[in-house]
Amino acid sequence: MPILTYAGAAYEAAPEETVLDTLLRNGVAVANSCRAGACQSCLLRASQGPVPEAARRGLKSTLAEQGYFLSCACKPEADMVLEPAGGLEVAAAIESLERLSPTVMRVWIRTSEPLGHRAGQYLTLCRPDGLARSYSIANLPNEEMIELHIRRAPLGRMSGWLFDEARANDRIMVRGPAGDCFYTAGRPDQPLLLAGTGTGLAPLVGIAKDAIKQGHTGPIHLYHGALHPAGLYLRDELRALAAASPHFDYHPTVLEGGGDLIATGPLDQVVLGAHPKLSGWRGFVCGDPAIVNLLRRKFFLAGISSREIFADAFVEATVR
Ligand SMILES: Cc1cc2nc3c(=O)[nH]c(=O)nc-3n(C[C@H](O)[C@H](O)[C@H](O)COP(=O)(O)OP(=O)(O)OC[C@H]3O[C@@H](n4cnc5c(N)ncnc54)[C@H](O)[C@@H]3O)c2cc1C
Ligand code: FES
Repeated sequence: MPILTYAGAAYEAAPEETVLDTLLRNGVAVANSCRAGACQSCLLRASQGPVPEAARRGLKSTLAEQGYFLSCACKPEADMVLEPAGGLEVAAAIESLERLSPTVMRVWIRTSEPLGHRAGQYLTLCRPDGLARSYSIANLPNEEMIELHIRRAPLGRMSGWLFDEARANDRIMVRGPAGDCFYTAGRPDQPLLLAGTGTGLAPLVGIAKDAIKQGHTGPIHLYHGALHPAGLYLRDELRALAAASPHFDYHPTVLEGGGDLIATGPLDQVVLGAHPKLSGWRGFVCGDPAIVNLLRRKFFLAGISSREIFADAFVEATVR
C-alpha cells in the first residue's frame, strides 16, 4: 500500500482510504470539514508523488500546479511526501459582528491585504487552533473588507464561537477565495435566476449586487427561502435594493406563514411555478445541499444548460 510521509513520519494508507483518513487515523491533526471535496479546508501539498485528478477538482490551476490538493478527495496511487498548506493564509481580524436574525450573524472581516475576490466566491476562515470552515462572500470587492453571513449551527464549533465568544479585533487567518459561483458579464440581457435558503442568501445577494453594478439589463430574480418569516433576514435591505434597481426583483418565500408580500410553499415549487420555462437563463443556487441539488435538477429540467448553473452546496462536517 502507498506510504504517506508527513512531517518526517511515514504512514501506510489502507485500501481505498483517503490521505485525510490515513493521517487522522494516525492522530495527525489536519483541518477538515465537509470531507466531500466542497470546502477546501483540508488542503495539503504534495512535494513528491502523483496527485489523482479527483483531488484537484475545483482548485485554482495555480494551486494545483504547485502540488496542492484536497486530502479528503485523494486516494493515493503511489507513495507521497506531504506538507501542510501553509503560506496560503492571509492575516485578518474581525471588524464587526451584527445579528441579522436570531440565527444569522453578519461578520465583517478585515484582511491584511486584498483577497481579490468576486462576490459569491467563498473563503476559508482558519482559527489559530486549526479549526477551518468555509463561508461565502456577500460583498463586492472592497479593498480589505469581507462580508459573511453565518448561521448558528446547533453545537457548531466555528459558528458557536462566532456567536458566543468572538469579538471585534480578534485575529483569524483566511484562505481563498475559491469557487466559480459568481457573476460574469458577457450577456448583459440574459435572465438570471438566483435561489437559496438560509445563509445561501449570502453569495446570492453578492452576485445580484455585482450584476446590477456591472449594468446587467436582463431580469434578475432572487428567491430567498426560509421556514418562517423570521428566517427571512435582510428583507428591508433587499426590498430597498429592488426599489432602486429596475431589473432586480426580490422574492421572499416561506414554507409556512407567508402573506401579501411573502410567497408560501416549497422554494422549488414557488420558483418553478413563476418561471416554468428557463431556456436561455443562467441559474445560481446556494445553501442547504439537499435544496441545492433539487433546484439544480429542476433548473436543468426547465431548460437551463448545465454549464449555466452555478451552485455552492454548504456541506457541513458530519458528527463522528
Ligand atoms: C462552499 C461552502 C460555503 C459555505 N458558506 C457558508 C455561508 O456563507 N454561511 C454559513 O452559515 N455556512 C456556510 N457553509 C457551512 C460552513 O462551512 C460550516 O460547515 C458551518 O458553519 C458549520 O460549521 P461549525 O463549525 O459551526 O459546525 P461543526 O462543528 O462543523 O458541526 C457540523 C454540523 O454538526 C452539527 N453538530 C455538531 N456537534 C453536534 C453534536 N454533538 N450533536 C449533534 N449535531 C452536532 C452542527 O449543528 C452542524 O450542523 C459553507 C460550506 C461550504 C462547503
Ligand atoms: S474539501 Fe476536504 S474537507 Fe471539505
